[in-house]
Amino acid sequence: MTKVVTLAHYYTTPEIQEMADKVGDSLELSLFARDAEADLIVFAGVRFMAETAKILNPQAKVVLPDMGSTCSLVTMTDISRLKKWREEHSDYVHVAYINSSAEHKALADWIVTSRNVDDIIAHLYEQGKKVIYSPDRNMGAFLNFQYGYDMPLWDAVCEVHDKFNKVALDEAFSLVSGDKYLIAHPESPLPVLHESDYIGSTSQMLNWVRDYNGNSSAVIFVATEDGILYNMKKARPDLDIRQAPIYTGCKCNSCPYMKLNTIEAVKAAQEGRGGTEIDYLSEELMKEAKKPIDRMLEFSERYYRK
Ligand code: 13P
Ligand code: SF4
Repeated sequence: MTKVVTLAHYYTTPEIQEMADKVGDSLELSLFARDAEADLIVFAGVRFMAETAKILNPQAKVVLPDMGSTCSLVTMTDISRLKKWREEHSDYVHVAYINSSAEHKALADWIVTSRNVDDIIAHLYEQGKKVIYSPDRNMGAFLNFQYGYDMPLWDAVCEVHDKFNKVALDEAFSLVSGDKYLIAHPESPLPVLHESDYIGSTSQMLNWVRDYNGNSSAVIFVATEDGILYNMKKARPDLDIRQAPIYTGCKCNSCPYMKLNTIEAVKAAQEGRGGTEIDYLSEELMKEAKKPIDRMLEFSERYYRK
């Protein structure tokens, strides 16, 4: 019998999350994939997540339900340009966000997720290191602003979070007379992050909502992809939780790549009759990409257990 483990990111639809053994943020899903005793891992997320799962658990067959599930942070990054940028900063530590291809990771010294990026970069600065950050320009700009760093930044964005903007937010805020809060993912632009009461990874934002004990009639705006609104509303049906608006007719904001994980595509992958196996990464590439991921996982396990 093939042991199948299905992982889903919070940005997939409620139906897909219900089909999964584990739903989580990028860090949690990486750890779960690494430790999964599975013959087949179906990754209902995007390609860089499935590639990370394969790198961490090469014995398992890892299948992505739809190969179109990329990420703009990956597609906006030209690897030969990145290589040159890395060479131009040879005396820097290269910290790369997990939303990157395996080739990109192999050019990094550390991988981070939105959950541990602050702590890892602080740790490097404490050691007197100089840091370059790729590929998310918004996240890097926020870290530079928040902590007074001067990291040179790569110039890519998440096409979903980059759509949140202060003008649309201010309009929405002006329609709420009572208390209001904004919680945001750090892939959002700096003017939006400046307005935020809390900034964190998808799981951290979910925990913030879960633990909220303020005025129960307050409106909580969430500047991230709409999938996680399902988890937030399920955790706290008593609260008025709304996605932060953008300028479209529906004012809604979905990741088109995450939403390629349809019920049929995930089911076909689970039953071994669909999806694409992540079998194109060479051993050498996986070995190089694994080093900075392992560094992050080791740091996270040690640091957060303290
Ligand atoms: P998290 O690591 O916070 O789950 O974020 C993943 C992601 O793709 C955000 O757009
Ligand atoms: Fe990439 Fe943005 Fe989609 Fe996350 S939400 S997978 S960063 S495009």
